[in-house]
Amino acid sequence: MKINLKNSSINSEELESCSRIIRVAHEKLHLKTGAGSDFLGWVNLKIEKSELEKIKCAAKRIREKSDILIVIGIGGSYLGARAVIDALSHNFYPKNVIFAGNNLSPDYLNDLLDYVSTKSITLNVISKSGTTTEPAIAFKVLRDYMEKRYGKEETKERIFVTTDKEKGVLKEISDQNGYETFVVPDDVGGRYSVFTAVGLLPIAAAGIDIDKILSGVYDAEEEFKELEKNPCYEYAAARNILYSKGKKIELLVNYEPKLHYISEWWKQLFGESEGKEGKGIFPASVDNTTDLHSMGQYIQEGERSLFETVINIREAYRDIEFSVPEDSIDQLQYLNGQTMNEVNHKAMKGTVIAHTEGNVPNIMIEIDRLDEYNIGKLLYFFEKACGISGYLLDVNPFNQPGVEAYKKEMFRLLGK
Ligand code: PA5
Repeated sequence: MKINLKNSSINSEELESCSRIIRVAHEKLHLKTGAGSDFLGWVNLKIEKSELEKIKCAAKRIREKSDILIVIGIGGSYLGARAVIDALSHNFYPKNVIFAGNNLSPDYLNDLLDYVSTKSITLNVISKSGTTTEPAIAFKVLRDYMEKRYGKEETKERIFVTTDKEKGVLKEISDQNGYETFVVPDDVGGRYSVFTAVGLLPIAAAGIDIDKILSGVYDAEEEFKELEKNPCYEYAAARNILYSKGKKIELLVNYEPKLHYISEWWKQLFGESEGKEGKGIFPASVDNTTDLHSMGQYIQEGERSLFETVINIREAYRDIEFSVPEDSIDQLQYLNGQTMNEVNHKAMKGTVIAHTEGNVPNIMIEIDRLDEYNIGKLLYFFEKACGISGYLLDVNPFNQPGVEAYKKEMFRLLGK
């Protein structure tokens, strides 16, 4: 994994000038002296062997028992699993893991009930607090449905709960009903929890090798632990330099549709970690080349408050070679001798040049291929960059006080 700042408009002196504040941020994170230091369990996460075995065992039972696992959760209790499963699954084959409890739409839940009516199901309900409204409602509806369909005893075998080790309504319900539980560590916040049971159980249940993912995470922990030559810190510094120059919006750009939910996860990670105290880069995303035909116009010529971070995946798993006869009337002869992956990369390079010339600085993150190992590394890279970036911005990157405001108003309207 590499970070490339060639087209970022940032020079080495500017980067150098950040070295003192990066050192301070690095010490805050590693010595646990900064704001939110109770939530740094993800920095050197090591899943206990027994916990890992328990996760794998439950995933195996889920796969044997059911056609579909419904994962109930929202925010950090949802996006990591969805991002990893989508990134590592076939674009079209139906998946055995679907998601609920991430909205309040009755249509969504009714459609989901239609869909699973002919399929055997299991549930993994995930909520660190155990009190979040969206998952609580989905869990109520789906648990009632399952008890009607399977009876109480059988339902007990089909529900897996991931929550706090001792507090919250969900923990109480689990204890009373004897559901198998997994723990969200106290010192890991929702949006940093993808490599705990929160993400690992659904990911393993989707048939993905979590050992390979964790080997990428553990290698990243090692590789990105030093102060010097740390790509996470270069990325954090670069985005803050651009922010100080008026680039208030960062677009995460991919050229691979499977990465759509990686961007959704990334938006939550950076948005919730940095958007506070009237500060913070607004994280947005585009899926290219699709969005070049919709948002491309704005990016090229709209208000110049944007910069882009492009995820460049070098290899495709299965490429397509072109063979266009000289006399073909489709005028695609220029493709001869190039593969579709090369065409995709030339679209990316051309876009980087055009956008950079249009005063949209580009940061590039390069990875070899989209596999378990590299996804583990990439997500850890973003987590560490985000923690450091939040400290550079002088906010607490591990709280989310602003999320409470809408809840207060909603509960008032609901008469709670
Ligand atoms: O990152 C966070 O802390 C939030 O996004 C939470 O994950 C989200 O609000 C869901 O919370 P909970 O897991 O308590 O239901």
